[in-house]
Order: sequence, then C-alpha cells, then structure tokens
Amino acid sequence: MRKPFIAGNWKMYKTPAETKVFFKQLLPLIEKTDIEVGICPPFIDLETAINMAKESSIGIGAQDVYWEEEGAFTGEVSPSMLFSIGCRYCIVGHSERRQYFGETDETVNKKVKALLKHQITPIVCVGESLEQREQGVTEKVCATQIKQGLQGLTPQEAEKIVIAYEPIWAIGTGKTASAEDAQETIKYIRSVLAECFGESPAQKIRIQYGGSVKPGNIKELMAQPDIDGALVGGASLKAEDFAAIINYNKK
Ligand code: 13P
Repeated sequence: MRKPFIAGNWKMYKTPAETKVFFKQLLPLIEKTDIEVGICPPFIDLETAINMAKESSIGIGAQDVYWEEEGAFTGEVSPSMLFSIGCRYCIVGHSERRQYFGETDETVNKKVKALLKHQITPIVCVGESLEQREQGVTEKVCATQIKQGLQGLTPQEAEKIVIAYEPIWAIGTGKTASAEDAQETIKYIRSVLAECFGESPAQKIRIQYGGSVKPGNIKELMAQPDIDGALVGGASLKAEDFAAIINYNKK
C-alpha cells in the first residue's frame, strides 16, 4: 500500500534563524504521526533544517537541482551535493520554475534521472493552467508532462518517484480543485503511469495534490482513493497549520 506523504514547499521564504524557530514549534506537534513528512526549504536553510529534523522522521528536500555532477555552472547545485548533506527529496518541474526559470519537460527529465542516480526522491510537479483547463486539455497537458518528464525511466526507477499534481490556477490563489476533480485528474495520471511503466509500478507511485491545501480541506482530499498526499505551499510556513495538515487523521 502507498504510504501517505505530505511535504511542504517553502518556496523563497525563511532564513536559517526562522527555520530553527519553525522546527522547534513543529516537532512537538507531530510527534505521533505515522505518515511520511517532508520539508523543502530554500538551499540556504537545508543544513539547518536537516540538523533540526535529525531526531525526527521528517525528511528534508531541495526545491531544484542541476543535473551535472560538478563543473563550471555558476549558481547551480548538484544531486551529489544534496545527497552529501542528507537531502532525501527534491522538487522538480514546479510550475513556478517552468514559468519564471525556463524549466521544460526535457530539463525535468535530466534532473529526475540525475537525482535517482544519487538516491534522492524526485517530487515531479505537473499541472495545467486556467486557460488549459478552460480549453479542456488538462489531461493532455498532464500526460505530456508525465511522458516527457519521465521518459527513459525503468519501471523500478519510476516506482521511486513521487508525482505532485498541482493545477496552476489553484496555487497560492485560495482556490482548491474540488476533491473530486483532483481525484479524477490524479486517477487519469495514474493511468498514464500504467501505460508507461505497467499497472503494478503505477499502483506503487505516490501522487500528491498541491494547490491551496489547508487544514480545512486536507481530510477530504486524503479521503480520495488516488490522492496519496499533498504538496503544501503557504500553509507549510506556519508550524501550527502544517501540523494540523499532517494530523488530518487525528481528532
Ligand atoms: P499553495 O499551497 O500556497 O497554493 O502552493 C502550492 C504549491 O505550489 C506547492 O508546491
């Protein structure tokens, strides 16, 4: 069975000092959780987060990576560098990186392969814009992003990745896809994974929903059969809110 996985994407928020404060607040609130929890802070906070989380089961991840091992690539960070400090995850292909920093399905593919070589779990983001949703091409857009982003992976490799379905119109807008709509698209994404890698690997791949996830809507989302977790932006910045999301199953 797929273990639920809730991860926070801090985007470009928090200094190392603020990271320390956050972990001091969060850890006592989620002591009894039995789900997988990840936090992806900015690069500059990674070591602080890893140190703060080391007595807990929280895994720390980056928000981006470059696919080369090392070299003259000013400003970039490699998978082996992330691995060397204890990073467990890395977000790849977030819509903000696609929109502002030229990320494409081709670069997503290179990053996914490089991360897998270094035992880092890629969290691969896919999702349609509002315009694409209105044109009725949501499934086509997600299928292309999945097929091209994961091209060339073996079924064994594919099983190790996590997909985050994040409709762009729901990110930071307060508009969540209804749990039923999210389920429908995520179920479709699972069928594309089955087409690419076979039914058994597709049943093992965890698919998160992302886009205005809050303490008030997490329970309904997690109740859907194909939704295995969430990638949380804004609400992951406040320890109390993030804890409430992680504890969605508790009273
Ligand atoms: P919000 O939760 O702030 O809508 O952001 C979602 C997101 O982009 C997570 O990667």
